[in-house]
Amino acid sequence: MYNDFLSKVRHLLVALIAMLAFAPSLLLAQGDASAGSRIFATNCSGCHGADGRGGERAPDIATDPNISSMADPDLAGFVRNGVAGAGMPAFGYLGDDGIRNVVAYLRQLQGRTGQVKVTGDKFAGRSLFHGEAGCAKCHMMHGEGGFMASDLSSYGSGAPVKRIRTAILDPATIVTPNSEVVEVANGAEVLRGVLRSEDNFKVIVQTEDGSFHRFAKSAVKVTYTGHTMMPADYKSRLSERQLNDIVSYLVLSASKIDPATAGNKHGEQ
Ligand code: HEC
Ligand code: HEC
Repeated sequence: MYNDFLSKVRHLLVALIAMLAFAPSLLLAQGDASAGSRIFATNCSGCHGADGRGGERAPDIATDPNISSMADPDLAGFVRNGVAGAGMPAFGYLGDDGIRNVVAYLRQLQGRTGQVKVTGDKFAGRSLFHGEAGCAKCHMMHGEGGFMASDLSSYGSGAPVKRIRTAILDPATIVTPNSEVVEVANGAEVLRGVLRSEDNFKVIVQTEDGSFHRFAKSAVKVTYTGHTMMPADYKSRLSERQLNDIVSYLVLSASKIDPATAGNKHGEQ
C-alpha cells in the first residue's frame, strides 16, 4: 500500500523532471512570422533593407547562406545581444516572444518557412546526380564524386531552394574567382581546364580528371572564357521534374538535416 504510494510519487517526480527538462525546447517553439514582420519593419529594415537583403548600413541576412544555415537559437542570440562594435544593436528589449517572432519572419525572408518546398523524388535525384546529369563528374556528395567543383554534401541545408535552382539553371550568377575556365595553347595542343593559379611566369590549370598542369607562361597562349566549368545548358537538358528531383536530393540528403524530420520540416533545427 505504502509502496504503491511511493511509486506513484516517484512517477510524478519523473514526469515533473521530464517537463522541466523539455521546457526550454517548448520555449523555443516556432514564432509568429506575421507579428515578426511588423517588428522587422520598425526595428530591422532601416539597416538590413525591407527584404533583408542588405543596405548601406548592414549586410544581407536573407540570402547569405552563412546566416540562413544558422540554427534558430543562434540567430535569436545575435538579435538579443547584437554585435558589439560592429553596428548591430542589441534587441533584448523585444523580449523572448518578440525575438522568436522576428526570427520566424527572417526565416520567411530566407525562403525557409518550415514548409518543404521540395516536391521531387530524392532517390531519382540521386541517380541523376551520379548518372545521366553528370553532376558527380565535378561535385562531391558524401564522399562520392569529382574534385573540380565544390563539395555539395551540406550545401542544401544552407541554401534556400530558390537559390539552388538558380545555381543550376543560371550558373553565370555563381562564378567564383578560382573557377574560370581557360584554354591553354601549347603549340598545336590545346588544353582546357580551370585556372587555379597564375603569375607572370607560370600558369597552373586543372583538367576534368583532377590533374594539374603547369606551364611556363612565355611558352603558351592563354584564352580566358569568362565562365566556370558548371555547364550552362541544364535549363534545356533537365525537365522541371528532373530538376525538382535533383534539388530534393541536395536538400533532403544534406548533412545537417535529419532525414526523419526533413519530410515536413526543412531546416528548422
Ligand atoms: C543600426 C543598424 C542595424 C539594425 C537596426 C539592425 N541590424 Fe542587424 N546587423 C547590422 C550590422 C552592421 C551587422 C553586421 C555585424 C557584423 O559585421 O558582424 C548586422 C548583423 C546581423 C545579423 C548577422 C550576424 C552576423 O554577422 O553573422 C543578423 C542575423 C541580424 N543583424 C539581424 C537583425 C535583426 C533581426 C534586426 C532587427 C531586430 C537587426 N539586425 C537590426 C546592423 C543593424
Ligand atoms: C563540368 C563540371 C560541373 C558539372 C558537370 C556540374 N557542375 Fe555545378 N559547379 C561547377 C563549378 C566549377 C561551379 C562553381 C564554383 C564551384 O562550386 O567550384 C559549380 C557550382 C554549382 C553550384 C553552386 C555552388 C555554390 O557554392 O554556390 C551548385 C548548387 C551546383 N554547381 C550544382 C550542380 C548540379 C546539381 C549539377 C548537375 C545537374 C552540376 N552542378 C554539374 C562545376 C560543375
